[in-house]
Amino acid sequence: MANKFKILEDKIKEAHLSGGEKRIEAQHKKGKLTARERIHFLLDEGSFEEIGMLVTHRATDFGIDKEKYLGDGVITGYGTINGRLVYVFSQDFTVFGGSLSETHAEKICKIMDLAIKNGAPLIGLNDSGGARIQEGVVSLGGYADIFYRNTLASGVIPQLSAIMGPCAGGAVYSPAITDFILMVENTSYMFVTGPNVVKTVTHEEVTSEELGGASTHSTKSGVTHFSCTNEIECINNIKQLLSYMPQNCEDDAPIIAYEAANEKRPELNTIIPANPNQPYDIRDVINHVADADSFLEVHKNFAENIVVGFARLGGRSIGIVANQPAFLAGVLDINSSTKAARFVRFCDCFNIPLLVFEDVPGFLPGTDQEWHGIITHGAKLLYAFCEATVPRITVITRKAYGGAYDVMNSKHIGADMNYAWPTAEIAVMGAKGAAEIIFKKEITEAKDAAAKLKEKEKEYNELFANPYRAAERGFIDEVIKPEDTREKLIRAFEMLKNKAAKLPRKKHGNIPL
Ligand code: HXC
Repeated sequence: MANKFKILEDKIKEAHLSGGEKRIEAQHKKGKLTARERIHFLLDEGSFEEIGMLVTHRATDFGIDKEKYLGDGVITGYGTINGRLVYVFSQDFTVFGGSLSETHAEKICKIMDLAIKNGAPLIGLNDSGGARIQEGVVSLGGYADIFYRNTLASGVIPQLSAIMGPCAGGAVYSPAITDFILMVENTSYMFVTGPNVVKTVTHEEVTSEELGGASTHSTKSGVTHFSCTNEIECINNIKQLLSYMPQNCEDDAPIIAYEAANEKRPELNTIIPANPNQPYDIRDVINHVADADSFLEVHKNFAENIVVGFARLGGRSIGIVANQPAFLAGVLDINSSTKAARFVRFCDCFNIPLLVFEDVPGFLPGTDQEWHGIITHGAKLLYAFCEATVPRITVITRKAYGGAYDVMNSKHIGADMNYAWPTAEIAVMGAKGAAEIIFKKEITEAKDAAAKLKEKEKEYNELFANPYRAAERGFIDEVIKPEDTREKLIRAFEMLKNKAAKLPRKKHGNIPL
């Protein structure tokens, strides 16, 4: 009997050695943790239960049958984060470069199926050279099996992908389907084709980091939601992100105990500058309104003209979407629309109420935007808000002009409560543009055209650069002093907590992609 136990113990030891000490050392030299170390830092101590530790590949070509490693390049299983169940896979670069074989894929699929059936988040720690080259199409099939499950799981359980090494070729499409991507600066990259292929096809000379590093994808492409300075920061970000989310689409996010206090925030009264064309940082508004230190910004360095992220309000998880007057005057363009639309849809999938702060001069004009499809992309944000059935509240802090007024969670598209500050300006367009159009004849015929324009601009401003026309119609439920915003929102979200709204029966909608 002792011998039988010894066999098992030896196998476990062997599995823990992965691709061997030399390769583990090489991994550390690159500034990377091993697959097991990552799981250790991610999960509550002692909570990890491994599944499939003894799996090996079954390929034979190119003599690969002589080289087998227990676990076959991916560690899979379940455990807890702050006591909540999660499923994890962690690719092991020390075994065939973490490349994906038939059995490696089967292991990932097994825990994906468990995660879906048991309604708990899936976390993928990616560090892989892509398809196991010796296995050919079998490996490609394995990828497709994963993509299929990612798609079935979408909207059922939260899926998070951390990129902690290479992630190239078709392999990128699994993280791309998941809800959030986190990348580690300087040690991870994602691209469909690497620098060598790029050079051959387009003659561009580019490094892996420039082509698909964390900085590129967090600023230029928006592929990644978080760019982390090291792996520990990345792992901590995963834990924080999960804290705002429910386990699955049938569940509600955890509520943190909260004691009502004085909710007045007089600092909010002085945030809006006297000059309507002067910028201010909408994050100041968010931070004064949300529970202290609770705001986690998503996609921080991409499409900065809109700010999105999670926060807590009176202990409850909320998703915030806010125009950012400090960047491009908070205008809506292609990138800000798609960024916000995806975030709104995530929150709606997982029952996270939405809070919108609105200060938007309109959609960005120009050939670049029109030719790249601002119509289709802007419609995504409109569509995302329209179909969201979670509690939805808007606060107009300043400008709400044109189509952007409708799009940014207006009453007309299903928002539950719409507030405006006395500084709000709600109109079809800015006063100057409006005056030039509707008083064109009067202005051109005037002796002093400039003075006439000024006079008409003032007239239009007095009529429309305020929240009261909208309030008279009931499009705004209440005009509130900025200092009362937090209290009003806590009460309103409490009032809306049992909201039950249903969309018309359909197979699925057809969002303008
Ligand atoms: C099998 C692989 C492998 C792979 C790496 N290895 N990638 N084995 N299949 N795809 C092995 C290496 O042979 C090596 O084994 C070990 O992993 C570490 O690799 P190194 O090259 O020494 O490491 P490094 O210098 O850090 O370079 C990492 C790398 C490079 C950039 C990832 O290995 C690489 O370019 N690999 C090939 C990438 C690739 O073309 N993959 C297929 C893409 S197409 P030893 O024994 O020496 O430790 C694809 C299609 C997916 O993925 C489609 C889905 C639909």
